Amino acid sequence: MISYRIVDLLSKPNHYKTVIVKGWVKTFRANRFIALNDGSTIENLQCVVDYKQADESLLKKINTGAALEIEGELIKSMGKGQSVEVLVKSILVHGEADPDTYPIQAKKHSFEFLREKAHLRIRTNTFSSVMRIRSILSFAIHQFFNQKGFYYIHTPIITGSDAEGAGEMFRVTVLDPKNPKLNDQGNVDFKNDFFGKETNLTVSGQLEAETYSQGLGNVYTFGPTFRAEKSNTARHLAEFWMIEPEMAFFDLNQNMDLAEEFIKYTLNHILEKCKKDLTFLDQRLINEEKSKPQNERSPMGLIEKINFVVNNDFIRISYTDAIDILKKSKPNKKKKFEYIIENWGTDLQSEHERFLVEKHFNAPVILYDYPARIKAFYMRMNDDKKTVRAMDILFPGIGEIVGGSQREERLEVLESRIEKMGIDKKELWWYIELRKFGSTPHSGFGLGFERLVQFATGMNNIRDVIPFPRTPLNASF
Ligand code: 4AD
Ligand code: MG
Repeated sequence: MISYRIVDLLSKPNHYKTVIVKGWVKTFRANRFIALNDGSTIENLQCVVDYKQADESLLKKINTGAALEIEGELIKSMGKGQSVEVLVKSILVHGEADPDTYPIQAKKHSFEFLREKAHLRIRTNTFSSVMRIRSILSFAIHQFFNQKGFYYIHTPIITGSDAEGAGEMFRVTVLDPKNPKLNDQGNVDFKNDFFGKETNLTVSGQLEAETYSQGLGNVYTFGPTFRAEKSNTARHLAEFWMIEPEMAFFDLNQNMDLAEEFIKYTLNHILEKCKKDLTFLDQRLINEEKSKPQNERSPMGLIEKINFVVNNDFIRISYTDAIDILKKSKPNKKKKFEYIIENWGTDLQSEHERFLVEKHFNAPVILYDYPARIKAFYMRMNDDKKTVRAMDILFPGIGEIVGGSQREERLEVLESRIEKMGIDKKELWWYIELRKFGSTPHSGFGLGFERLVQFATGMNNIRDVIPFPRTPLNASF
């Protein structure tokens, strides 16, 4: 007999009579009621054991965390709290879980504790909800681009170039760290390394995606990216996933339109497909908020916040206008910001982004036309020669969720920008050459997938929306 997923049994119970279900015990009450979960839904299936007939030694094995295969009859439930339940005929214990040592008990555990049990935390309600949503979101992302005729391309993970020019890369090498061969200048000679040159893990697939847009039209990558920045914050990972579309013949406005439509589409998708998980996470957040002082509580619940983003236009303002707002703002005048905004040209800190999004506009904000000095070499120079066609999307509670731009398609301008920024041209020869042959205006952006998952699930810490987070001093599991 085939086994069934609990989500199917609960959603169309009339289709089934005798069933087999396989899953893990959440709780076992009164030697009689097993709450079984198989990961297919947040809901458990109640399985009722006739303990008078059951073997004592079997009952002893039914502990929280044990893996069971249950055969029984699916009936209308007499009790409260569930519409159907299974009258157990037989139980096969696949794997026991010792109640004295199994770490995931049926009580509230802190997220810090669970990060140390990352191999088991998926058994909790919160993590299974988050990871289901993560999976469904990634599917929605592919669906969005597929429906729009974009091609999914796989950009390399090992590269020789630094796409962001920020130098925060993990080196890839097979050289012996104890005894690397040195060249005449006394430096490590990477000619002896695997690729015959210095290589690193990519910080972005953008540069390669650009080349493919200049032939396929509209493309996107969705892959892991790596940054060796020592930012130990609730929004930074050393290994994160990024979605990077790249569109030939798109200007910055079209780029912003696409990014906004894209985010709304994916969030709408989970509003439709993940109702139960979202309701659970919404409630979790309400409980968490209760422990905060009144003035720090979020005015909106999770689902309300997602709906708000889906149903409202993002605010679009230039960096220059944003600086004006910030300069005149209360926290700036009263020196409440850690970094006081004095001059045009300074980079925005997350406190400034939060002020704009959470206090001033109370909506997602797209900032565009940033000072060239604080942005990457590939962004298109404006006629003012001071600003570039960059755009960042800022989200409530998250900060920057998207970074993008119109790309510099003019050969001479690009070359002079690269030189001015002191970037080594050698590794970028192919990127530069792209501007020699059939160059087009084009644009793209990068969305940090984990930050989107954070927004969609209301999770505070980015370490709790990826199965096995990589952060400074932490690469366990
Ligand atoms: O703004 P970033 O650095 O832009 C790029 O990498 C461009 N090449 C993208 C493009 O135009 N194709 O990164 C894009 C996004 C950020 O807005 C943020 O959401 C996320 O990637 N991100 C991180 N997420 C988690 N941990 C980190 N350390 C991140 N760094 C960036
Ligand atoms: Mg950025």
